[in-house]
Amino acid sequence: KETPIVILNFKTYLESTGENALKLAKSSEMVAEETGVNIMVAPQYTDIYRIAREVDIPVLAQHIDTIDAGGHTGSILPECVKEAGAVGTLINHSERRVELFEIDAAIKKADSLGLSTVVCTNNIETSSAAATLNPDFVAIEPPELIGSGIPVSKAEPEIVEKTVESIHNINPKVRVLCGAGISTGDDLKAAIDLGSEGVLLASGIILADDPKKALLDLVSKI
Ligand code: G3P
Repeated sequence: KETPIVILNFKTYLESTGENALKLAKSSEMVAEETGVNIMVAPQYTDIYRIAREVDIPVLAQHIDTIDAGGHTGSILPECVKEAGAVGTLINHSERRVELFEIDAAIKKADSLGLSTVVCTNNIETSSAAATLNPDFVAIEPPELIGSGIPVSKAEPEIVEKTVESIHNINPKVRVLCGAGISTGDDLKAAIDLGSEGVLLASGIILADDPKKALLDLVSKI
């Protein structure tokens, strides 16, 4: 089995903004180096450039707009996040939903630029739909558990298991992650035992008193 994947979504917490974002990215890099776990970080757009220059772990954008270069003031051009140093992007996060045709367009645009794609979904049906669009990852996150501290891998194990099964029937190349309420080593282990390849998480680490210690605890059981 491959090394588990941990994607730390910085969202827009002040604890993961600006200088704090850089510090958190460096802690993530240290934990990745110490443990061999594949940790990726998804900071806000304006922090991507600095973080990508200073750490050697993969940096993802939280979203891209499906626009072509030109007159689109205030938009997020995929080419720009790539030049800033991102190697992939989240798409359709629960806090940044887009329509199905935009998920498709974002995956195609990211593919053309060599950016990895992590499509977030809310249930088994949308996960299955997302798998047909051929992203690198689908991350199932039941919205009601996001930020709750109640781990999806323990509260709703069947949704993870069934998503893995459904996606692998539809498109075996797609790798499945899960997220929402994940914070401890037991939560991550449960997610892996259910067949996912890793987790997408935020508040359990970002709002911890000692995020580096929380990350070390997260990866301690695998
Ligand atoms: O993208 C990760 C996410 O939505 C889960 O958030 O705070 O429950 O780990 P959290």
